[in-house]
Amino acid sequence: MTTDPALDDRIRQIGREIFTRVAELARFSSPLAKIDDAMMAWSMRNERRKSRLFRFVDCLPSLRSCEEIARHIREYLHISVPGFSPILAAAATFGVSRMARKFIAADDLDHAVKAIAELRRKRLAFTVDLLGEAVVSESEADQFQRRYLELVELLPARLAGFVEDPLIDRNAAGAIPRANVSVKLSSLYSQFDPMNPGGTSQAVLARLRPILRLARQNGAMINLDMEQFAFKELTLEIFKSVFMEDEFRDWPAAGIAIQAYLRCTLDDLKGLAEWSERRGTPACVRLVKGAYWDFETVVAAQNGWPIPVFIDKAQTDANFESAAVFLIENRHLLRPAIASHNVRSIAATLAHAQRCGAKPAEIEFQMLFGMADAIKSALVEMNHRVRVYAPVGRLLPGMAYLVRRLLENTSNESFLRAGFIDRVPEEQLLMNPILRKRRPASAARPARAFANEPPIDFSLQSSRDSMERAIAAFSAQGCAEVPLLISGQRIFTDQWIESINPSHKSRVVARCAGASAEHAGKAVAAAKTAFAAWRDVPAEDRADLLDRVADILGRDRFELAAVEIAECAKPWREAHADVAEAIDFCRYYAWQMRQLALPAGADVPGELNHWEYESRGPALVIAPWNFPLAILCGMAAAAVVAGNPVVLKPAEQSPLIAFHLARAYEEAGAPPGVVNYLPGVGEEIGPVLVEHPDIAMIAFTGSRGVGLSINHLASRPRDNQDHVKRIIVEMGGKNAVIIDEDADLDEAVAGVVASAFGYSGQKCSACSRAVVLPGVRDAFLARLIDAAASLKIAPAEDPGCRIGPVIDAEAHRRILAAVERGKRDARLAFAGDAGPLAEEGFYIAPHVFAQVPPSSPLATEEIFGPLLSIISARDFDDALSIANGVQYALTGGLFSRSPANIARARREFRVGNLYINRQITGALVGRQPFGGFKLSGAGTQAGGPDYLRHFLMPRCITENTLRHGFAADAE
Ligand code: FDA
Repeated sequence: MTTDPALDDRIRQIGREIFTRVAELARFSSPLAKIDDAMMAWSMRNERRKSRLFRFVDCLPSLRSCEEIARHIREYLHISVPGFSPILAAAATFGVSRMARKFIAADDLDHAVKAIAELRRKRLAFTVDLLGEAVVSESEADQFQRRYLELVELLPARLAGFVEDPLIDRNAAGAIPRANVSVKLSSLYSQFDPMNPGGTSQAVLARLRPILRLARQNGAMINLDMEQFAFKELTLEIFKSVFMEDEFRDWPAAGIAIQAYLRCTLDDLKGLAEWSERRGTPACVRLVKGAYWDFETVVAAQNGWPIPVFIDKAQTDANFESAAVFLIENRHLLRPAIASHNVRSIAATLAHAQRCGAKPAEIEFQMLFGMADAIKSALVEMNHRVRVYAPVGRLLPGMAYLVRRLLENTSNESFLRAGFIDRVPEEQLLMNPILRKRRPASAARPARAFANEPPIDFSLQSSRDSMERAIAAFSAQGCAEVPLLISGQRIFTDQWIESINPSHKSRVVARCAGASAEHAGKAVAAAKTAFAAWRDVPAEDRADLLDRVADILGRDRFELAAVEIAECAKPWREAHADVAEAIDFCRYYAWQMRQLALPAGADVPGELNHWEYESRGPALVIAPWNFPLAILCGMAAAAVVAGNPVVLKPAEQSPLIAFHLARAYEEAGAPPGVVNYLPGVGEEIGPVLVEHPDIAMIAFTGSRGVGLSINHLASRPRDNQDHVKRIIVEMGGKNAVIIDEDADLDEAVAGVVASAFGYSGQKCSACSRAVVLPGVRDAFLARLIDAAASLKIAPAEDPGCRIGPVIDAEAHRRILAAVERGKRDARLAFAGDAGPLAEEGFYIAPHVFAQVPPSSPLATEEIFGPLLSIISARDFDDALSIANGVQYALTGGLFSRSPANIARARREFRVGNLYINRQITGALVGRQPFGGFKLSGAGTQAGGPDYLRHFLMPRCITENTLRHGFAADAE
């Protein structure tokens, strides 16, 4: 970016020259190209039409029959020609294939060589990008590696015969490789995860090194693409480390893409320049603006993270110019490859290069296949080297690429759209970005009353360091000894409950005092005593207490996550998500209580009507171990803020994390008796508490058997009991995900794997049934099994852990027994192996059953482990009926690209939480109120607008203010 008027004049002058050449060249463009442009312009005239059209294009290659194509045309575009499905389908397929051919150079190597020959005829160099499906398994990563190896093996030989063209085959230092291949690191490892940089680098490098070796041997160049922001640090790290290895250190044919829409571009370039100086051999930097702008802004907004990209297009353009200047000035260290179709960005580069005395051969321009062809030709006429990024691959796997290009060409901010479709005047297009009118800072949204706690961003080194430190500190502490907490008193008993680390079954995490029936009575009495005062504490003060608890949990989040990792074998992300959810519950219910406490009523003249909510009384909270902090905290927070002191009965497997919650209340200033902590053996103290006449309400989350028994026991009033107990029970599920014929299998496989095997299938929301339609059954099953086999089984403290152990020995036995039983009814299509870890902890690898009869126990009974049943459905009707055909109705999911089937599922897939085209776990407080019905629960969704009311008693007070015909104001 320049502030020098003379230089800016020169930039505009070069820009005008390019435009003049482009206009001249455009006179000779083919009529078909003009039709393409007209189609593009038509699609853009209406944003809704554009979005529907692109969604249709996205799913077309996965449709298998004319009828299917015609149905989707009807659903997306509302075009219907009864009786002419084949013609309609053929026309649509022709149109989309044409579009694909515009942006995708070839579908295999032979055709790629032809396309390259055609490019060379136009004096254009190239780089090949291999299109492919998202890599969800190690076998798919192997396949990608084979394709890259084949490319660097065969391509250089196939190009050797071409006559040298100095414009594209030489740079200022001499000959450059003709074969140039762009590589995406995420295609080389299915578990690519910045949270696990060590493991990821190791796996990626194992597949990358042979590619580099062969490329070097055969004289090809390798350029690493840059993907989403979360992968950036790790991609740079891998690039710098591998090209510093002895074998590759003096190899100049290495490059990496850097994105100018990121705020950190210049820092990254400086880092690369320093690295190059140390290396002693320059590398190439391909400067792009960045292809994931929408994705980055959405991900940041959803997670409450800072937005890593500029949100004003002019800032990206200005940053691009600054980065280009940096590269030109440091071209002895980093060879500049300027990848842009924007005439202003290109002209700015050229003007700076001239001012610095850089030779044309020192700078390369790069553009995408099928885009801005006239600009490419104009630059060639001006004797500049232009390289074309040429995607190669079949249409179905290439669809994501095609849709990205369509969006890029038609985006409101696109230079190509502005210049060649909207026909914005040249002078405006060439204007210095720092002078361009900034988009008004997006109308500040009204502050939301409640915002979710942002998840930890593990792509940051600082987050990973904090987690490592917390885990180390926790294990250094040794076994903790934990008392009961009743009315503020710490009480040790003569019984111990041992909390075992499921990842290492010989390690005891904590010894907790076990409560007896007598302690249970004392805890209820303490809650009853505290109730008298706590109910009258203003709602605002009770809400403040919850906010303080949330602050404490936030302050200690790494320490708490470390406890969960050890005590419940929650992997890193899941442990943090649990802590964040606990914080959310506190803040959300605090906010809700303040709303419920606002004056409400319906007055009429002479009559005042006042409605209010009153506390119920001592509450018993019985929580499970699978969300050991969040669920306990959520139920307790609702009770406490509603004015009901609580007796907390945590699961026997997770007493330590529960103690931390009780201590947080203490530190936050909860009066004695408002929160009583009572670990104990469920069978011993459970019935005493449930049947106690002074318990006013019970909030339970756990198994169906226990939930129904509590419901039964608590419904019968005891002597001295003067109230009906309010019972909230959240129980299990047998959750199904339907995979429709037109589902995007990249997403469906990843979504089902995450839902079925995340936390070893021990979430109540987990997917235990995949109901698959015939057209995708075989492909889905094959990819799913490969993906399940690729999950790393490891102790929960390992950042690479994708599958940890199950919770305890009893669960381990029960799940293995279910596997054995399942073999009688269905085909065990995949049985993973935990290997030597099986001796260390309670590990069970993923298991997948196929051909599961919908009514078999495998398909109807909750198992709570990493077992997935694949059920075949005849059609969508059958799929819905199978999905609904169990006694549970908790969560459910659908992967489909049919608007009509999505609408049907919304109506007819009857579960508490239905997720469409995403995983079915991970509900967020305030966004996805969570809970089911049928035998999954009584319809009280936690973290939703109705939940708190269940902890309160509504009252209405009416006052007649008429006195002898005179209506006085109320006092
Ligand atoms: P133009 O000037 O129209 O800029 C469009 C770009 O501006 C958008 O793509 C976005 O980056 C940015 N933008 C849009 N709206 C914005 C807003 N409101 N605020 C701020 N910025 C906004 N991409 C990538 O991410 N990784 C890669 O590895 C590669 N590799 C690659 C290689 C080659 C050879 C080429 C030509 C391109 C890539 N790309 C890429 C894609 C590249 O990012 C994309 O083509 C360019 O961003 C388009 O920029 P132009 O300068 O051509 O257009």
